[in-house]
Amino acid sequence: MKLFIDTANVEDIRRANDLGVICGVTTNPSLIAKEGRDFVEVVKEIAEIVDGPISAEVISVEADKMVTEALELYRTINNKNLVIKIPMCAEGLKATKQLAAMGIKTNVTLIFSTAQALLAAKAGATYVSPFVGRLDDIGFEGIDLVEDIVKIFRNYAIKTEIISASIRSSNHVIEVARVGSDIATVPYKIIESMIQHPLTVSGIQRFLDDWAKVEQQQI
Ligand code: E4P
Repeated sequence: MKLFIDTANVEDIRRANDLGVICGVTTNPSLIAKEGRDFVEVVKEIAEIVDGPISAEVISVEADKMVTEALELYRTINNKNLVIKIPMCAEGLKATKQLAAMGIKTNVTLIFSTAQALLAAKAGATYVSPFVGRLDDIGFEGIDLVEDIVKIFRNYAIKTEIISASIRSSNHVIEVARVGSDIATVPYKIIESMIQHPLTVSGIQRFLDDWAKVEQQQI
């Protein structure tokens, strides 16, 4: 399973990229707003750091306007890795179809059901993003949704890739990997939490302490 970072914070993207564990980036309007910076400028900076798919979301609600926005993003950002993030709705499906016909990659977001994922794939989406955490928040099992989409896409050899999104813990990452998600997009703090294990910390300390004894004996 591939890991993408889910943020518009350039420093976090740089840190994760330096670790060698991520190969793509997802943003959304809320994440961009949190940074308080110009959208295009941020995406351009991200594209200089990561050589992999970078999802940037449109904010229009009508298909034609989504397509115009997508083309404008393509013109200004001018990067082959740009993926246009489209909200799941009838207008979003129409825009996905048009963008697919132009060879433009799309990530259909806000997927909360298998039916939505199937429709997005049929419209030509390159990626679908089921939201695990937000389903958990309302008492459903987000992981079950990812598992069902994986099964359906495999049944019919559907090429659309699944980006498990709204990931809230390292356990979520492991669970979506277990059920066969193609990608998990995760905030930097979760990547950090995946690095840590108390036995690794104490193990490193013990090796250092024992090595210090060896050095003492050599004096
Ligand atoms: C990524 O594509 C999604 O926009 C993001 O994972 C949503 O996460 P949230 O539910 O924590 O806002």
